[in-house]
Amino acid sequence: MSLKVRLYDVVFDNPLLPASGPIVGSIHNLLHFNLSKVGGIVTKTISVEGAVVSKPCIAGKDNTIYNTELWSEYPIDKWSEQILPELKKEIRKPLIVSVGYTASDMERVVPKVNEFADFFEVSTHYGMDELGPLVEKICTLTDKPVFVKLSPHIQDYIAFVEKAIEYGAKGIVATNSLGPGMIVDLKSRSVTIGVDGGKSWISGPSIKPIALHRVANIRKAFPNLPIIACGGVEKAEDVLEFVLAGADLVQMLSSSLIKGRDLFDKIVSDLPVVMARYGIASIEELRNTDLDTKPLGRGGYPVVDDNSCTKCRLCVRICPEMALSLDSNIQLDSERCICCGLCQSRCPVGAISGVL
Ligand SMILES: Cc1cc2nc3c(=O)[nH]c(=O)nc-3n(C[C@H](O)[C@H](O)[C@H](O)COP(=O)(O)O)c2cc1C
Repeated sequence: MSLKVRLYDVVFDNPLLPASGPIVGSIHNLLHFNLSKVGGIVTKTISVEGAVVSKPCIAGKDNTIYNTELWSEYPIDKWSEQILPELKKEIRKPLIVSVGYTASDMERVVPKVNEFADFFEVSTHYGMDELGPLVEKICTLTDKPVFVKLSPHIQDYIAFVEKAIEYGAKGIVATNSLGPGMIVDLKSRSVTIGVDGGKSWISGPSIKPIALHRVANIRKAFPNLPIIACGGVEKAEDVLEFVLAGADLVQMLSSSLIKGRDLFDKIVSDLPVVMARYGIASIEELRNTDLDTKPLGRGGYPVVDDNSCTKCRLCVRICPEMALSLDSNIQLDSERCICCGLCQSRCPVGAISGVL
């Protein structure tokens, strides 16, 4: 069973990479990933000057990370003279160097880190106007493939991708953190973290459906464009869902901030097991399958298997039409049932069928 991914003649042992952020912002972090099971490494976004970040800057909840980080707090010279040369001595995996943010930053950053990169990733929170000159500039400064990272607040992202390609981008990373959002601490009556009126950026499993939809739509519009998915991955199934939606590689950050860094190695170890369970022969095979965007479900009435039902009553409590009740077993009022599928999707023991 092959997990390998080939992108512009660079081979990744598997599709999982760390996403740009604090876990790849220093030499000890990068060396850690170099020895871990991930398929490749991405750096924290590097710009000319080190960012000045107001602290605290990261807060985590069960499914969400909130952050007000900027780019790397180290300036370009620390990256080009210390961090990347030290990494280069040891490196065993493909390296994506993340850079930002303007065309003039590119002139001062890219020549200094070009020799270390297999790919570039340009982080952009900027709109359509700056995108063309930015991408055009970096593409004149390197012959390495340039991937443009999409920000979810860009509404017309298909036009954004089209423009990035027009100016020389060789791939897309979708997506950056979502927002701005807000996290409030009721006890202190203030935001937990936040800048510029309390805003923070949101990532982690809660944004996965948005990232998945964007990846699928970009794939549909650009069938041959390399795509690196990012947003909300927390398990091997998520990686495979993104590949089915059209991703070539898949990045993760926030779930490792919520659950721990060992999650990367666990996901890579789990991938072959989960692939076998779903009859997936290789990452390439799944990537070349078209995601069916019509639901398979029958939309019929729910059928409850009394042998596996534990009578926990969750379906009774959540049914939006109050169509289910518990007598000696679960009873359905078909006059009320709207065949929505919620009960089947939420049954903790899979005792309901017939709708989805
Ligand atoms: C604390 C933190 C710092 C981040 N810093 C960067 C950054 O420097 N450059 C960048 O392109 N994205 C940055 N991101 C965005 C992530 O790379 C990623 O796109 C986003 O968090 C969605 O993926 P996830 O849900 O797996 O975290 C950061 C995210 C977090 C949570």
